[in-house]
Amino acid sequence: MIEELEELRKRALEDLGRVQDRKLLEEWRVSYLGKRSALTSALRGIGTLTPDDRKIVGQLANDVKRDIEEAFDGQRQSLDRQEREAELAREHVDVTLPGRPLLAGQYHPLTITVNDIVGAFRGLGYDVVEGPEVEWERYNFSLLNIPAEHPARDRWDTFYVKPTEGLAEGSVVLRTHTSPMQARVMERTKPPIRVLVPGRCFRFEATDATHESEFTQIEALAVDEGLSFADLKGTLDAFVHAVFGPERRTRFRVDYFPFVEPGAEMAIDCHGCHGTGCRICKGSGWLEIMGAGMVHPRVLEGVGIDSSRYSGFAFGMGAERVAMLKYGIDDIRIFQQNDLRFLKQFR
Ligand code: DAH
Repeated sequence: MIEELEELRKRALEDLGRVQDRKLLEEWRVSYLGKRSALTSALRGIGTLTPDDRKIVGQLANDVKRDIEEAFDGQRQSLDRQEREAELAREHVDVTLPGRPLLAGQYHPLTITVNDIVGAFRGLGYDVVEGPEVEWERYNFSLLNIPAEHPARDRWDTFYVKPTEGLAEGSVVLRTHTSPMQARVMERTKPPIRVLVPGRCFRFEATDATHESEFTQIEALAVDEGLSFADLKGTLDAFVHAVFGPERRTRFRVDYFPFVEPGAEMAIDCHGCHGTGCRICKGSGWLEIMGAGMVHPRVLEGVGIDSSRYSGFAFGMGAERVAMLKYGIDDIRIFQQNDLRFLKQFR
């Protein structure tokens, strides 16, 4: 019996050495320490021995049991440790790896351009106001000295909004320019007036590289006693120098807009060739930026401002065009295409 017990201990410990996972460990436990194991029946048989034998065999059986149990605990702990280590290895995070970049938003090139222009005029004391994109035909045309049936309306073909039955004020359009805000501001403000009006405009237009049916304009209006064309020129020079650089030169040529008299078109010398002619300015050396002029007396009178006392100047420019010239963009449609390869280039 002593031999059996020694043999049992030897076998149990040898077998345990081969146990590499929890399932085998449990099987091992059942077969060596379970109720029906050889050890358990040996312990049970001790009672049948003589008291002397019982003492020796009992002592040995207890030693064997303790050895096997200790070995079992040791193996179980070692398996636990291995599992934990494997899990840690699986969940290992390399904190030295670079993080995933956060997608940060940024301004649209048009917003940057409008903000630049607004900033330049804020510095000159202009208030910034916005007006309705859906506008009474009266403000978009009539109050700007463009009467109904006048051929000048052809220049601003637009989308007419279906009139609501019984509207006394006439028809409703998507505004074709920001100029209607001239009349709106003058109606509610007494001179001196200095306002800048950025906003979206619409035209019934075939789309191409330089035309979009939806675009952005920036309008300016100044009304005061004694304002002259010289004030207009000085203001625009300051604007051009702030936005396009202090070395830019300006050029004014006569142009016709019904709401100004005299009317002009302003150009700046081309930054590509400094006036000698290149691809950017299509050989002319100049880039047209905006329409401008002295507010027509009829426009002043139309909103109840005494044109013998007050005079004013106004101008309007396309923000897309300014951005295109500033950044060398050759197709206006790209502003609305939401192409990140384009948009990401502007900071
Ligand atoms: N509203 C004009 C247009 O859309 C631009 C313009 C020209 C605005 C002359 C003005 C101006 O204020 O004085 O074509």
